Amino acid sequence: MTHIAPSLLAADFANLEECVKRVTDAGATYLHLDVMDGIFVPNISFGAPVIASLRKKSNLCFDVHLMIKEPLRYIDAFTKAGADIITFHLESCKDPDAVIEAIHARDLKCGLAISPATPVEKILPFLSKIEMALVMTVVPGFGGQAFMPKCLDKVRVIRRIAERDGLKLDIEVDGGINEENVGLTTAAGANIIVSGSTIFRSKRPKLTITKMLKAAKDNPFRG
Ligand code: DX5
Ligand code: ZN
Repeated sequence: MTHIAPSLLAADFANLEECVKRVTDAGATYLHLDVMDGIFVPNISFGAPVIASLRKKSNLCFDVHLMIKEPLRYIDAFTKAGADIITFHLESCKDPDAVIEAIHARDLKCGLAISPATPVEKILPFLSKIEMALVMTVVPGFGGQAFMPKCLDKVRVIRRIAERDGLKLDIEVDGGINEENVGLTTAAGANIIVSGSTIFRSKRPKLTITKMLKAAKDNPFRG
């Protein structure tokens, strides 16, 4: 099943509750929450208190994307804040297995992300241990960047392996996704689509999400 996950990074931070309501009414099923620490990436966004406040206002699936160094330190905080899925970067820590275990010990789904410079081979040993692979389609750190189509080769490799090995794996893509390129991502095997500026800048977010879901349906993974 395909889900559209609007990235809150592109929302009006002075009106978060209203922004979440708007994308919910527009048909989003996930809310993508980008947490940046200014060290792993050169930008600072928001942290657990903001997510905890929104949790009281929303039933969407909270998809927390941690772009922070040594995420193990904060798994508890984001669990308490109300995350449903916690995704961390393979490049951000020394012991990814420990982070995966910590997330699962709290009964949450675990996602593992790779940045554009990371070869797909690095994530393969973890595919059977996680619920979601996040393939970045921009260099993490900022919204509104241009989509990097080359990264879809990694999505294709991961989806083929997941099918071959019978893994129930979600594949998320994140960065620069719009109505025009979303079909390329689903054809490559992605099923969770993050989109920030396209959705939050849209005057008609419902139409935008509907178009994205239709493009996804028209462009399924073909092996
Ligand atoms: C980038 C973030 C993305 C970003 C997506 O580091 O992980 O989630 O907010 O925004 P757009 O869709 O504008 O590229
Ligand atoms: Zn993200």
